[in-house]
Amino acid sequence: MLRPRRDDDSPINPLDHGIHRLPSHVAIIMDGNGRWARSRGNVRLKGHHEGAKAVRRALSFARRIGVRYLTLYAFSEQNWGRPPAEVEGLMSLLMKHIRSERDDLQDKGIRFRTIGNIDKMSPSIVTAIRDLEEHTRGNDELDLIVALSYGGREELVHATRQIAARVAAGELSPDAITAATISDNTYTAGIPDPDLMIRTSGEMRVSNFMLWQLAYTELYVTDIYWPDFNDEHFIKALHSYDSRQRRFGLTGDQAKR
Ligand code: FPP
Repeated sequence: MLRPRRDDDSPINPLDHGIHRLPSHVAIIMDGNGRWARSRGNVRLKGHHEGAKAVRRALSFARRIGVRYLTLYAFSEQNWGRPPAEVEGLMSLLMKHIRSERDDLQDKGIRFRTIGNIDKMSPSIVTAIRDLEEHTRGNDELDLIVALSYGGREELVHATRQIAARVAAGELSPDAITAATISDNTYTAGIPDPDLMIRTSGEMRVSNFMLWQLAYTELYVTDIYWPDFNDEHFIKALHSYDSRQRRFGLTGDQAKR
């Protein structure tokens, strides 16, 4: 008997996993690479290499199940303070993946975008990032948003400066500033806020990630270290999301309407 072909690229029906409501935007704090490596007697960089494999896995899963936006916290503004060898290792890992994933991202209809103070990175990485963003601009299967040299407070400073400049130029009255004005000046302008934020390795912190955008996001924390995060763990997080009632400050009865 012919069996349906199941390969890495086959769509996943959320209903087959008992998931009735899928988040459109999932954001992930990929934590625990260093501890994963140390717990195996390896150097931290080994954890980042395995973490990059988990990125590929999560991206493939998200696309196949129908998540529309996936934001990954890959390098924070504060990560610049790590030992230079680790920073260099992370940068070369990033560069390697920007090059090696180019064709696959294009073939799969994935749009690559970044958020953060990218200009702090080396000119060769900035060029590679801008080139990949441009190359995949027309894709609309899934937006992969990688947070690089990113900090939530720094993003709000950036947005405030842009708004203040318009006020100073007489283009905008302070009274006309609304929450939408701030959203429009963040790095994620035009991208809906995350519905679900997953954090691995058990830490109950937001760690300067998407401070503005997470206002009504459902949070899910798992003890799994990022390099071990697989489809099964992703499904558990989606189940948890499916079971939540999002109220956006209203009562349970109001939110049902
Ligand atoms: C957090 O673990 C992880 C990072 C700071 C880096 C994340 C980078 C990758 C997964 C690889 C590159 C990404 C792409 C998009 C190709 P940690 O080092 O803070 O771990 P610890 O808390 O156990 O020390």
